[in-house]
Amino acid sequence: MLGSGCSMKESQGLLDAGRPGDSRSRCSSSRRLCFCFILVFAVGYLFLYFNSTKWWTPFKSLTQSKKSPNTTDPSRVTGSTGAAAGLTTDSSSSGTDQVTQSSSAPPLAPYVSPGPYLVEYPHQYHFTINEPQTCAEQQPFLALMVPVAPQNRADRDIIRRTWGGDSQVLGKVVKLFFLLGLKTGEGAEQLPEQLLQESKEHQDLIQSDFVDCYKNLTIKTMVMLEWLDTYCSNASYAMKIDSDMFLNLPNLIHMLINASRTNYLTGLVASGAAVLRDPSSKWYVPVEVHPSPQYPRYALGLGYVLSLDLPRKLVEAARDVRALYIEDVYLGLCMQHLGIPLTDPPGPGYFYVFPVSYNRCAFSRLIATTTHENADRTSIWTDFKKPGPFC
Ligand SMILES: *[C@@H]1O[C@H](CO)[C@@H](O)[C@H](O)[C@H]1NC(C)=O
Ligand SMILES: *[C@@H]1O[C@H](CO)[C@@H](O)[C@H](O)[C@H]1NC(C)=O
Ligand SMILES: *[C@@H]1O[C@H](CO)[C@@H](O)[C@H](O)[C@H]1NC(C)=O
Ligand SMILES: *[C@@H]1O[C@H](CO)[C@@H](O)[C@H](O)[C@H]1NC(C)=O
Repeated sequence: MLGSGCSMKESQGLLDAGRPGDSRSRCSSSRRLCFCFILVFAVGYLFLYFNSTKWWTPFKSLTQSKKSPNTTDPSRVTGSTGAAAGLTTDSSSSGTDQVTQSSSAPPLAPYVSPGPYLVEYPHQYHFTINEPQTCAEQQPFLALMVPVAPQNRADRDIIRRTWGGDSQVLGKVVKLFFLLGLKTGEGAEQLPEQLLQESKEHQDLIQSDFVDCYKNLTIKTMVMLEWLDTYCSNASYAMKIDSDMFLNLPNLIHMLINASRTNYLTGLVASGAAVLRDPSSKWYVPVEVHPSPQYPRYALGLGYVLSLDLPRKLVEAARDVRALYIEDVYLGLCMQHLGIPLTDPPGPGYFYVFPVSYNRCAFSRLIATTTHENADRTSIWTDFKKPGPFC
């Protein structure tokens, strides 16, 4: 591609041409050299053009969707560059594809995986099962949002007949929703039909079109926030709560009646949590992805409560903060980006990450606890709800 007439010596003239006067005399003295100048300039320009395309690829892919690549808005791309600086290792491998593809024009950014520690967000996901009217019709005070695998009907049924079954608590309307992604692999074919049936029966399923797996929980949480903002922003609070939890709703409502209606995010708040650098850890995060040895304050994912002004702010923050796969830490990073501090519960003993063994008195004092894996949650509930003093 380099002009055959341009020897190294003549190319050197390009560098000299930087000096005024010198270049003019060279150009007037030799037409051939002047042509050379233009040629080298053009080659240099092309080189820079391809190079810049290559370097921008990973940044674009952070915000562009692979299905609808023109949803990008320029502020997003620039917004994410600072945060995306750590991604340069990924760009070297993906950039090569881009150079070969862009020679055949329109420069469509190819799909680039965000790597194992980040997830495909922001991205335009769609709801495949939805409850668009429920909040508008029932005007809940609190929306309970339970992430659960699509095939896990058993857990949903347990929640519906235990703590998720109460729709009025201390005079406040509470509404339960389950959040599902898409099931892939075995048993995936008959599931959509079953889910539609279940949705017709209970009107509490929300499903979006991302692959439902542990690594994608951050996507589930962000889609949940988008949903809350779009379909349930009139509620006062939402609680994201895992399906294996016990929830004492009266205690929760009691706490919320006196809580702030804005910029409020509480739960079991971790302060100064160390980033796990052991690659064999379930929550390993390398230095390139999160350089600081600590995370900002964040509420543990087992159950956290937020005021309904926050979903929109968090979704907006997510345009600038790279989507780490650890969903609760990620919300903490977004809160830090927004400069909104987390709220501690009014005292200790409200949220438990290590299972509290069932005991009527103990369960009557907490808000939420994980349960033992083999605990019979239905009979615990039956015992908890029977009349008589708790302690
Ligand atoms: C997508 O691109 C087309 C053509 O460039 C444009 O007309 C359209 O407005 C774009 N859509 C969005 C959502 O940006
Ligand atoms: C939200 O509440 C306001 C005031 O109570 C009401 O006018 C509005 O229709 C509600 N919107 C939805 C979507 O429920
Ligand atoms: C997470 O979901 C996205 C979108 O559906 C998908 O492309 C990706 O492969 C999923 N991640 C895993 C680890 O399955
Ligand atoms: C409710 O809030 C007020 C003022 O914000 C405070 O003085 C009071 O102690 C709170 N009550 C409870 C039960 O938390």
